[in-house]
Amino acid sequence: MSLPTSLAAPAAESVRDFATDVRRDLALVPKQIQSKYLYDGLGSTLFEAICRLPWYRITRAEARLLSTFAPQIVSAFSEPLTLVELGCGSGEKLAMLAEVLRARRRHVAVHLIDISPVALELSERTLGRLQHVSVVGHRATYEEGLRHAAAQRVGDSAMLVLFLGSNLGNFDPPAAHDFLSRIRGSLRAGDALLLGADLVKPESDLLLAYDDPLGVTAAFNKNLLVRMNSELLADFDLELFDHRAVWNARESRVEMHLVSRADQVVSIPRAETSVRFAPGEPIWTESSYKYTPEDVIQRGRLAGFLSLDQWVDSRARFALTLFSAD
Ligand code: AVJ
Repeated sequence: MSLPTSLAAPAAESVRDFATDVRRDLALVPKQIQSKYLYDGLGSTLFEAICRLPWYRITRAEARLLSTFAPQIVSAFSEPLTLVELGCGSGEKLAMLAEVLRARRRHVAVHLIDISPVALELSERTLGRLQHVSVVGHRATYEEGLRHAAAQRVGDSAMLVLFLGSNLGNFDPPAAHDFLSRIRGSLRAGDALLLGADLVKPESDLLLAYDDPLGVTAAFNKNLLVRMNSELLADFDLELFDHRAVWNARESRVEMHLVSRADQVVSIPRAETSVRFAPGEPIWTESSYKYTPEDVIQRGRLAGFLSLDQWVDSRARFALTLFSAD
C-alpha cells in the first residue's frame, strides 16, 4: 500500500524548485520567501485550522454569503454548468453551490485546481459524495489548471470560475491585474467569475486575524523554517525567529514576517547558500491585500469583466462579487 500524497515526501523536482527560489529570494533586500511555499502537507493542515479560528473570519463570512446567495448565483446561468475552483481548499464552498444545483436536478462538471495535493484530496473527498457531480482534480498552478479545464469543457456549457477566500489578496496590484486579465482571456461570452475578497477593516481586527492568540498563524508561518530544514537540510533554529504581522496602510495589505532575534548565520546546503541575519531583520513571507467593495468592482472592470452583482458581509467586512465575461 502506498502512502497518501499528504504524507509522502515531496518530489525531487519540487525540492529543486524550492531550493532555487529560496536561494534567489533570501538574497533580496528585504529577504523574502514566496507565500506559495506555506502550503506543504503540514502548512495546508495549519491553514485549515486557521479557517476555524474565531479571529480569522474570512472563511465563515464567505460561507454565509454563499449559503444565502447560492440560488441567486446559480440562477444567472443556463445549463449545463462547469464549475472551476482556483485554489480549492477543502471543497466545502463548491459543495454549497453544487447542493443548489442538485435541488434543481442539474448535473455539474467540477474542476479543482490547486498546487497542494492535500487540498485536492480533501476537496475530492467532499465532492465525491455528491452523485450529480463529476470531479476532475488538477494539481497545477491556477493558469495551467484553468487552461486544462477550459480545454475539457463540454459543448456549450457555461463556465463559472470561483476564486474565493481572498486568495487574490496574495497578488500585488500589477500581478492581480495580470491574473484577472488572463482569467478573462480564457473565458468566453456566457462565462463568469465569482471573486471573494476581504475588505479593509480596523487594524486591531486585522492583526488578531494574522497573529492569533493561539499561535496557529505563527506556526503556519514558522513552518516555512521547518520546511527548509527538512527539504533543504537547513539549520534554522525555530527559537531564534518570531512571527510578526503588520498592517501596511499605505499599500492596504497585511504583511507576515519572520523576524530574526539575533545576529546569526544559517546554512541551507541544498540551496547552496549560507544566509546572515542581523538582529530584528525580517523575512517577508506573505502579503494579504485588503480592498473596498468599489475597489473590487473596479479591478474586475479593468481586467475586462462586467460586474453583475456584489454581496457584502458588513459584520466581517467581506465581499463576494459576480462578474460576467460578456
Ligand atoms: C489563503 C491567502 C487568503 O491571506 O488570509 C491566513 C492565508 N495567511 N493567515 C490570507 C493566510 C495567514 C490567506 N489566504
